[in-house]
Amino acid sequence: MQEKLKSYINEKKLYIEQELQRYLEELEIPLRLKESMIYSIQAGGKRLRPILLLASYETYETKIEKALSSAIALEMIHTYSLIHDDLPAMDDDDIRRGKPTNHKAFDEATAILAGDALLTYSFEIIVNDPLLNPKEKSYIIKMLAEASGPKGMVAGQILDMEAEDKQISLAELETIHTLKTGKLLSFAIMTGAYLGKADAAQLKQLEQFAYYLGLIFQVQDDILDVTGDESKLGKPVGSDVHNQKSTYPNILGLDGAVEKKQIYVTKALNALELAKAKNSALQMLTDHFSQREQ
Ligand code: IPE
Ligand code: IPE
Ligand code: MG
Ligand code: MG
Ligand code: MG
Repeated sequence: MQEKLKSYINEKKLYIEQELQRYLEELEIPLRLKESMIYSIQAGGKRLRPILLLASYETYETKIEKALSSAIALEMIHTYSLIHDDLPAMDDDDIRRGKPTNHKAFDEATAILAGDALLTYSFEIIVNDPLLNPKEKSYIIKMLAEASGPKGMVAGQILDMEAEDKQISLAELETIHTLKTGKLLSFAIMTGAYLGKADAAQLKQLEQFAYYLGLIFQVQDDILDVTGDESKLGKPVGSDVHNQKSTYPNILGLDGAVEKKQIYVTKALNALELAKAKNSALQMLTDHFSQREQ
């Protein structure tokens, strides 16, 4: 990885992890619930969504504290989605972020509740942020609810489950990915830019950028499920094949999936240029999303 990108990611990651810890530590709640929430948050994770949100904000503004609560809320919702995604009733995975999944380390009921708690706490964090005005709060809550709820990630998850064991078209696969992964990534980009006061024309281009970035991220996730290294990924490879998931490699073949990813990268970088965000951290992160090995 390029030195500049590495230090950018490390610096942001440190800040995000310190703040995640602070928000969870201050909770006065039943101990087992707290331990279970902290367990999954601290298990690791690349923190790509909050990093992306801060990078998007920094493309237009400097004082990143303003974007912090949105970044933290987003990572909490993402972590909740992973806890539930790994449950026996869903993907039934035992390893996540290099450690036993939440329901393995605790139990299923606790894992469900830890997920519920991370989801709801994230909204509380936005509402209580003194750096946001009422208009910003209601806008962010609306965006976050739409991205994570029945019109967003949750819709993608059910379509993803329904697509198991059957052949679907590339268009159907793109819809699933746009919902299950793309919406939260879009939230990161759009909320960062909104808080950074990007103008309407820039936001419109960033919407395009976010759409392609979501697809890039998920194609790479699918590719890594086939070619990845379990010790780097921190989750088992071959889970999609085992669950007979529809994936890019499975529809297009491995080479076809890589080609498709390149097309998405070109489109994403074009949109970024039009959003006057070329040479920003967002550009480095696009390459990183497409090349990542973990
Ligand atoms: C994994 O997301 C789930 C998908 C949406 C494919 P990440 O690959 O960002 O997982 P962490 O947060 O780094 O564990
Ligand atoms: C999970 O997608 C997406 C969400 C949790 C919303 P996957 O099931 O493909 O993610 P991994 O491969 O388990 O990380
Ligand atoms: Mg899944
Ligand atoms: Mg899964
Ligand atoms: Mg996957």
